[in-house]
Amino acid sequence: MTYTTADYEQAVAAIRQHTTIQPRIGLVLGSGLGTLADTLENAVAIPYAEIPGWPASTVHGHAGRLVIGELSGQQVVAQQGRAHFYEGYTMQQITFPIRVMHFLGVQTLILTNAAGGVDPSFSVGDVMLINDHINFPGMTGSNPLMGPNDDAIGPRFVGLAQAYDREMRGIARDVAREANIPLHEGVYAAVSGPSFETPAEIRMLRTIGANAVGMSTVHEVLVARHAGMRVMACSGITNVAIDHVDSELETNHEEVLEAGKVIVPRLKTIVTGVLSALA
Ligand code: 6GU
Repeated sequence: MTYTTADYEQAVAAIRQHTTIQPRIGLVLGSGLGTLADTLENAVAIPYAEIPGWPASTVHGHAGRLVIGELSGQQVVAQQGRAHFYEGYTMQQITFPIRVMHFLGVQTLILTNAAGGVDPSFSVGDVMLINDHINFPGMTGSNPLMGPNDDAIGPRFVGLAQAYDREMRGIARDVAREANIPLHEGVYAAVSGPSFETPAEIRMLRTIGANAVGMSTVHEVLVARHAGMRVMACSGITNVAIDHVDSELETNHEEVLEAGKVIVPRLKTIVTGVLSALA
């Protein structure tokens, strides 16, 4: 199914019934990281079910609300939880919220996710600033920009050499250094999930230059860049990916959610610091 401007505008109209705030900054909060939205001031929360066309997440750890309020003195709209490709939605459906943010007037998008650490130097609780990505679903035919292009939103062909805003990355680095937060920077590999990777797949990802792996974000970045938004994205490393078959360990969703608790305050410091610097 292809959405039209009317679909996005209908969603925007439903959101505007709840608030007169016109946020220019969008946040997307990943698994276990949604509590960051609870710290917005003067906030209104809109359940996704009340926004026509908005895909609901069925995954535990994803609240499913749009929170609009103030962070660091700036007006922001935050997605508390997101729907995933592995839930059975199309790429167009799971990126519908990014288009709605564009039609709401969002110009700067900060995305977060829970990711597995592929880089052997990463530990649970670390934060990785994404500076590039490898898009497995996209390279194999599941790209949200496939289909008719709406030239009023963005161009048919989107360059991705500068997908992750250099100035914002520089600010994030400075903020993290001042707050003593260990901040890695690297390549996020997107896979469709829902199964986690095999040890052989983790070794392959490491060989091709991935530092972290997860099931979200990249398709949202494509749609945001298509619409000309500035993008910053961070992975919270919730588990260290298992790279050999004799390991006693097994990756599970509970550890992913648990690690979010350490990561949220770190991400909050980075995100609020970047927002203050941009103001
Ligand atoms: Cl190890 N893999 C994937 N694909 N997603 C994750 C993860 C691993 N850890 C958190 N999210």
